[in-house]
Amino acid sequence: MTEERRYMLLTGASRGIGHATVKLFQSKGWRILTVSRQAFSEECAWPSARESHIQADLADLSQIDRLAATVCERLPNGKLHALVNNAGISPKGPGESRLGVQGTDADVWTQVLNVNLVSTALIARSLMPELVAAKGSIVNVTSIAGSRVHPFAGVAYAASKAALAALTREMAHEFGRRGVRANAIAPGEIETSILSPGTDELVAAEVPMGRLGEPREVAETIHFLCTEQSSYINGAEIHINGGQHV
Ligand SMILES: NC(=O)c1ccc[n+]([C@@H]2O[C@H](COP(=O)([O-])OP(=O)(O)OC[C@H]3O[C@@H](n4cnc5c(N)ncnc54)[C@H](OP(=O)(O)O)[C@@H]3O)[C@@H](O)[C@H]2O)c1
Repeated sequence: MTEERRYMLLTGASRGIGHATVKLFQSKGWRILTVSRQAFSEECAWPSARESHIQADLADLSQIDRLAATVCERLPNGKLHALVNNAGISPKGPGESRLGVQGTDADVWTQVLNVNLVSTALIARSLMPELVAAKGSIVNVTSIAGSRVHPFAGVAYAASKAALAALTREMAHEFGRRGVRANAIAPGEIETSILSPGTDELVAAEVPMGRLGEPREVAETIHFLCTEQSSYINGAEIHINGGQHV
């Protein structure tokens, strides 16, 4: 008997950690549906990338019902085995400066909270029947900035990631009896376009392993959390930061 094909919905796949995650899951035989603001990124050169992509702006919460409906149409057996909430934004001020409380206006707060936090809850809510049908796994991508002041991440970003860690606990509590696990991964400094100038000095001073993380190393942990190997892990937040949190 052939094994059932597994389906994952991954937000923010067009570059960075999301990009690496698609490649890893594809190599393991998964089908991936991707979401981002771009209609399609030519850098996404994996098989059927164009057909599997759904354009949506997660800052606009009114787009989520349509997104969920499109996802459901594309699931052949109504089963979603993994939802990875990876899309995230970290706005900067003039000259790439850190946005503190004084520098963050209401529009920035709304945008960051919608993309990094509220959209994840609404997507999970909309796709719960499909996740329950597959006994699926949710992985929320938080950040080291959610648990300590970070020199580059702004206040709205940090608050959104702390709240996403709390949301992960809530999901684990609420969905566990329905067979759906929810966990978070908290990357530190990973080699992607979200990094700020000065990261190399930060890594040298604060990361015990003395190097940046690779997107593939994050993808491996996401994969672990979406498979049977993590079958009793629920409500965890795993640090992926070379020891930066110690
Ligand atoms: N890199 C790090 O060191 C690091 C550290 C800690 C946490 N993280 C977290 O890891 C996740 C991925 O980070 P990354 O470094 O890979 O980021 P990235 O390279 O900036 O990629 C972000 C992804 O999110 C998508 N996205 C952004 N705004 C969106 C919106 N409004 N609607 C839909 N999609 C949107 C982007 O695609 P479009 O531009 O096409 O929309 C892109 O695919 C984020 O949640 C980030 O906070 C990263």
